[in-house]
Amino acid sequence: MKKLFGIVCLSALFGLMTSCDQKNVTMKSYNEGINILPVPAELQQQEGQFKLTKSTSFYAPTPEAEKVAQFFADRINKSTGYRLTVKEKDGSNCIAINVDPNQQLADEGYILNVTPKGVKIVAKTAAGAFYAMDSFMQLLPAEIENQGVVDNIAWIAPCVSINDQPRFGYRGFHIDACRHFIPTEEVKKLIDVMAMFKINTMHWHLTEDQGWRIEIKKYPRLTEYGSKRIEGEGNEYGGFYTQEEIKDIVAYAAERFVTIVPEIEIPGHELAAIAAYSGLSCKGDSITPRFIWGIEDVVMCPGKEDMFNFLEDVLAEVVPLFPGKYFHIGGDECPKVSWKKCPACQARIRQEHLQGDAQHTAEEKLQSYVIQRMEKVLAKYGKSIIGWDEILQGGLSPNATVMSWRGVAGGIAAGLQNHNVVMTPGHDGGMYFDYYQGDSKIEPIGIGGYTALEKTYNYDPVPDTLRTIGKEKYILGVQGNTWTEYIYNNDLLEYRMFPRALALSEIAWSPVDKKDLNDFYRRVNNAYVRLDGHEIHYHIPQPEQPNGSCNFIAFTDEATLTFKTSRPEKMVYTTDNSTPTPESMEYTEPLKFKENTILKIATVLPSGKMSPIRAITIEKQTLSPIQADVKPLRGLKLKIAYGNFFKPNELDGITEWKQKTVKALEEIPSQVPTTEDMRGIPHYGAIAEGLINIPSDGIYYISSNYDQVWIDGKLVNNNEGQVKRYSRADTSMALAGGWHQLKVVFLGNIIGGWPSQWDNGSINLREAGQEKFTPVAAEQLGYIAQ
Ligand code: ACM
Ligand code: ZN
Repeated sequence: MKKLFGIVCLSALFGLMTSCDQKNVTMKSYNEGINILPVPAELQQQEGQFKLTKSTSFYAPTPEAEKVAQFFADRINKSTGYRLTVKEKDGSNCIAINVDPNQQLADEGYILNVTPKGVKIVAKTAAGAFYAMDSFMQLLPAEIENQGVVDNIAWIAPCVSINDQPRFGYRGFHIDACRHFIPTEEVKKLIDVMAMFKINTMHWHLTEDQGWRIEIKKYPRLTEYGSKRIEGEGNEYGGFYTQEEIKDIVAYAAERFVTIVPEIEIPGHELAAIAAYSGLSCKGDSITPRFIWGIEDVVMCPGKEDMFNFLEDVLAEVVPLFPGKYFHIGGDECPKVSWKKCPACQARIRQEHLQGDAQHTAEEKLQSYVIQRMEKVLAKYGKSIIGWDEILQGGLSPNATVMSWRGVAGGIAAGLQNHNVVMTPGHDGGMYFDYYQGDSKIEPIGIGGYTALEKTYNYDPVPDTLRTIGKEKYILGVQGNTWTEYIYNNDLLEYRMFPRALALSEIAWSPVDKKDLNDFYRRVNNAYVRLDGHEIHYHIPQPEQPNGSCNFIAFTDEATLTFKTSRPEKMVYTTDNSTPTPESMEYTEPLKFKENTILKIATVLPSGKMSPIRAITIEKQTLSPIQADVKPLRGLKLKIAYGNFFKPNELDGITEWKQKTVKALEEIPSQVPTTEDMRGIPHYGAIAEGLINIPSDGIYYISSNYDQVWIDGKLVNNNEGQVKRYSRADTSMALAGGWHQLKVVFLGNIIGGWPSQWDNGSINLREAGQEKFTPVAAEQLGYIAQ
């Protein structure tokens, strides 16, 4: 929605223009009101406005203030074209930044006063001054974040008095550079934008089963071999950071008051290191980095002193790169199967008297022994350890901070033991940003879970259990995690992180009683435009259908389509095959169709930016007739060809088939027993043919992860080349009740890190009007004996 303020002078009301003579200045709805995000602890709007002009200057009497001033002068220069000077004299039309360690303010707190005459900032630290400037920037139109000069805009900020400080000292975002590598420029981009929203910590996951990503000079094989994997598709995937690159990023982050917490995983999730130095595992496995997702059984061997020597050497090189207080030692998801069988591990258990008891197994205590040894090593460098909540098993190291990810229970348990905690719960807290934030049937493939923006926003990092007994002080803060298994490129990384990182920012910074979901949604509309300025590919919710979105709607008499979005946004559509624009017809109520139609529908933000457009084919059908007079035997005929096939047509020329029958669809992907690690598993392609019994006449929605499903000769699911999870190729079909032809094409392969042989093999049907899909039962399958 655009509002043009040329005739009536509403500038005083909305704080966008100083005079009525700027006839061409367009007022954007998303710039109305106060848009500071995270919302400040105390804010009072005052009369009038401050206008930033080319003669505005900074007053910065100390070197710290000057640095902050210079940083923002450069930023402001990009969008306004003004080169604001940094002066040592205060005056009018000036942004005065006063950093004074004697101020009675919180370390990162600040006072910001904006009057028509100028802007005054008082802070105790440079970080506080930086956050004051973040807030000031957010009082200006969102276009202030553009990277190029914006014309026809009045750079006006409403007058305010703000006294602000963060709720938590740890306001973190986590990135996993291991499953998919995140190039240095992208890491910097994220830091830059996170700092705009007062996030102050980046947790950098640097080592994993799938890739070792940090140069260690003493162990060159870690990057030579450990940083590369051959993926299921056959390509080599790799990448790592040199120590020089890391220093550069750490310095870049420090300029934005972001501290980096490195994570070196110990003792699990280390297959890439073991691939480089086989002696690190119990059995000395000769192995490659893992090329699928999931949890790896092959872990480091704490029975061996050499493993500890290796870790100490690695830490000796990593620690000096990261000046922050905290060092993350991982500790999650470390299967103990190899330790149970390993003579060296068992000898260590005996030697260190790590007998199991009612609470913990001996192997869990061995894990705790590893963490405690590493805590001592890191303490020598003055570092405090953080570990995932599994470090509670077997007993916490004396000074460990627990990162609670498997829900909030780990955080509560640690707080009860007077240990510090960072809250990052996934399912029950909305802090896993790799989860879906919309309908999985139309969103890019993800790991699963569901965390709409509202869920992240509604999370309170302080559990009642700790608050009521006065232990909330142990909650250092909160963090959003973005694991990158299904994040194949930088755009997807940003798409998963934003806008949920904005909700994180507010729950980490703002007092609980200042939170307001609707006002947050309003301010997010302004923040989107700031993110646009930094070319962040944030998520825009798409129009979704209840019970599972579908791009092919069959009907016999009339189709009624209902849409919603995972957070409130306007939807627009066309029915004439044209591309919708922000001005297209607004969706306000269910749409009815009696004719074949292509419905194109999208969400539009107040900025005019649109979601991906959904093109939905709506087709009038007659019920596909049944195979009359058939008396099928139970099951399906299956033919199997061994090989690694990626496309159904690769099966066309095959003459050597193994033939058999199967009783249930679920048997099709499990014709070869698989191991958890999928190493050396013979892949195969299979075609199942026969009949499917449809319960009664109706419109059926059909969903599966097979490469192809055909009913009555019609291709109804086509997942060719896709990661075969969370079917994104549903269709619908009008079917008469009774037996219909069925053909299923299954290709056992690994695409995007997911082995299709892990699929459960079901085909799921939902009759129109029903809420849930149900798997086709074995009794619904048949074939005609030859
Ligand atoms: C984790 O998500 N495995 C910490
Ligand atoms: Zn061992």
